[in-house]
Amino acid sequence: MEDYEKLKSEALKEIAAVQGEKALEELRLAWLSKKGRIQALMAQMKELPKEEKPAFGAAVNVLKQAVTAALEEKKEELAGALLEEKLKSEKIDLTLNAYTPSTGTSHPLSLVTKTIEDCFVGLGYEIAEGPELELDLYNFEKANIPHDHPARDMQDSFYIDPTHLLRTHTTAIQMRVLEAAHGHTPIKLICPGKVYRRDDDDATHSHQFMQAEGLVVGEGVTVADLKGTLEFMISSLFKEGTRIRFRPSYFPFTEPSFEVDMTCHICGGKGCNTCKHTGWIEILGSGMVHPHVLEMAGIDPKKYSGFAFGVGLERVAMLKYGITDIRDLYNNDIRFLKEFKSFN
Ligand code: DAH
Repeated sequence: MEDYEKLKSEALKEIAAVQGEKALEELRLAWLSKKGRIQALMAQMKELPKEEKPAFGAAVNVLKQAVTAALEEKKEELAGALLEEKLKSEKIDLTLNAYTPSTGTSHPLSLVTKTIEDCFVGLGYEIAEGPELELDLYNFEKANIPHDHPARDMQDSFYIDPTHLLRTHTTAIQMRVLEAAHGHTPIKLICPGKVYRRDDDDATHSHQFMQAEGLVVGEGVTVADLKGTLEFMISSLFKEGTRIRFRPSYFPFTEPSFEVDMTCHICGGKGCNTCKHTGWIEILGSGMVHPHVLEMAGIDPKKYSGFAFGVGLERVAMLKYGITDIRDLYNNDIRFLKEFKSFN
């Protein structure tokens, strides 16, 4: 029996002293494999007298279990130490600033375009586009502005040749869409886009700017529909509850025509510097689609009526975000654009 105890303490000592997983495995083989020391002890059993065999077998088993348990424990200990070491060497410093990729921001004109589109898509309108290099036909003729009409002077244009020009207003898209409808109604559209006019650039003028055109044609469309729709759009763009008023105006493609004012978004209508103490701010042009325009597009004006409006997006952006120079919208100065991060 003493021999077993000696063997056991020898094994446990070796196991306790071993360094590294490889050496431990070698030790396991030396003790527990088929050619190992415990197996060699077992082999001695057959030479023993019968009555000694059970005690001998039991003792060797106890020894085997003790060695196995010690090896197992050591294995775990080594794995734990390895992990500890790994954690130490691979430690990351969470107090370091993370690398944040710089992201762009939406341009204020894109923000305004998106707000208007969202507002009208929510009302079931479709979004329409048209070419920026436009035919005189759609920009003027079909909009009831014939060749010798004085209204052409208000929109000094970039002509490419006698029949092509950079469109001067998004009303050109309206005329294309009306014609493409082939007399079918209802039509409900919003058309944002760039337009161009010969103008000297200054703080409030730009030879290139943006508009959004709205158009609704159907049976029984009235000025009341126009007013309700515009009130909704203006409230979406500025403040809920912003009121509007119509003033008589003139556009060749609408009859009657209205200039639309909104209550000042700064003072709410009380009067301040922004609204020149009137409480009102001019915001867009609109009207009921001229019967002759409908007729030219093949839509029966006796049966159908419609409203239209055109809003300048720079004007909306400048009022909404307090921009004082229209050229800032086109200079691509990243410092200016960054100011709109919070609106994105
Ligand atoms: N096209 C006009 C302009 O550029 C704006 C406009 C006014 C459009 C009245 C319309 C409208 O559709 O009904 O000044």
